[in-house]
Amino acid sequence: MSDTFHILLLPGDGIGPEVLAAARRVAGAAADRFGVRLEYEERRIGAAAIREEGEPVSEETLRRAAGADAVLLGAVGDPEFDGGKVRPEAGLLALRRALGTFANLRPVSAVPALSGSSPLRPEVVEGVDLLIVRELTGGAYFGEKEEGEERASDLSVYTRREVERVARVAFEAARGRRKRVASVDKANVLATSRLWRRTVEEVAREYPDVGLEHVLVDAAAMHLVTSPGCFDVILTENLFGDILSDEAAVLPGSMGMLPSASLGEPGSPGIFEPVHGSAPDIAGRGVANPYAAILSAAMMFRHGLGRPEVAEAIERGVAAAVEAGHLTPDLGGSSSTEEATEAVVRQVAAEEGAA
Ligand code: NAD
Ligand code: IPM
Ligand code: MN
Repeated sequence: MSDTFHILLLPGDGIGPEVLAAARRVAGAAADRFGVRLEYEERRIGAAAIREEGEPVSEETLRRAAGADAVLLGAVGDPEFDGGKVRPEAGLLALRRALGTFANLRPVSAVPALSGSSPLRPEVVEGVDLLIVRELTGGAYFGEKEEGEERASDLSVYTRREVERVARVAFEAARGRRKRVASVDKANVLATSRLWRRTVEEVAREYPDVGLEHVLVDAAAMHLVTSPGCFDVILTENLFGDILSDEAAVLPGSMGMLPSASLGEPGSPGIFEPVHGSAPDIAGRGVANPYAAILSAAMMFRHGLGRPEVAEAIERGVAAAVEAGHLTPDLGGSSSTEEATEAVVRQVAAEEGAA
């Protein structure tokens, strides 16, 4: 097994570079401890790429991504390009498409030390541990588009194959957890959702040990904040997954706590990035919460590089830093990005000393 990995860093825009620097710092400390070598290449994506290269992601960057072992990304998006013809977000969508990362894993868990950060009552949030499996390369995001002055349309298409492969990811994940899948759709209205439901039923037959329920997306949005503890794995399409995962951020209390892994076919590089965006409202102030990006680096070690022990060390480091009260302002604290990051680095290193 090779112990050297090539990582493509795409800091992007806004707080992207701030949180990516934090993730890199912690990944480096954890990698050192486990004798893993990381080699980095850094390139532009999003508004930064539009400014310097004239497009939100270049062909060369897509090629470098395809040749890397994993892609670690900050965030894209800049209000400067709102309403413009070329959008920073298009770079991220092109990257997901190019790498074929059809399954987006977004774990959400309640952190006891943060129960005060959630606007929900502690007894609602307590013990929450769910995984959103969001389909990432289909649906309205990627269908044919029409954009006129008087009329616009986004075609939403799903094929049986697209549903099957992401459903398998969800059922496999459920096997390693509490063995329950809630498939979220809008089958009472949408044809794509009816295909989704039929296909998920078929895949479920291959997993008799995993329980399946279907939940309509409007009701799921409500259950997510009234009884989030009822969910184990949530399987859903691209657009619903985008919306439900931001809603789920109220469970730990901040967007700054949710990591993600976007995975394609085995052997192809995954994209590891926080669920949050470029947060232009706080960018450049050094106060962005780095934990989502740091936890995304942990997911990179687990799902992208096959080194779960490094992932676990990072996750323990974040848990300890949070527990010790190193909280950025979004969590009600006054730590800077750097202080929170250093707290994790110290935890990872202290464990080594203790081992
Ligand atoms: P956002 O996630 O950037 O911010 C939403 C709110 O959460 C803001 O108040 C922000 O300050 C806060 N927040 C987010 N991350 C935080 C962190 N790490 N620490 C502390 N607070 C944090 O969503 P938005 O404001 O709707 O979008 C801003 C831009 O980001 C848009 O251009 C959007 O398209 C883009 N975006 C990109 C991604 C991505 O790159 N994956 C994801 C979502 C949004
Ligand atoms: C996300 C983001 C992206 C999405 C945008 C920036 C294209 O909101 O990763 O959740 O909608 O998928
Ligand atoms: Mn989103």
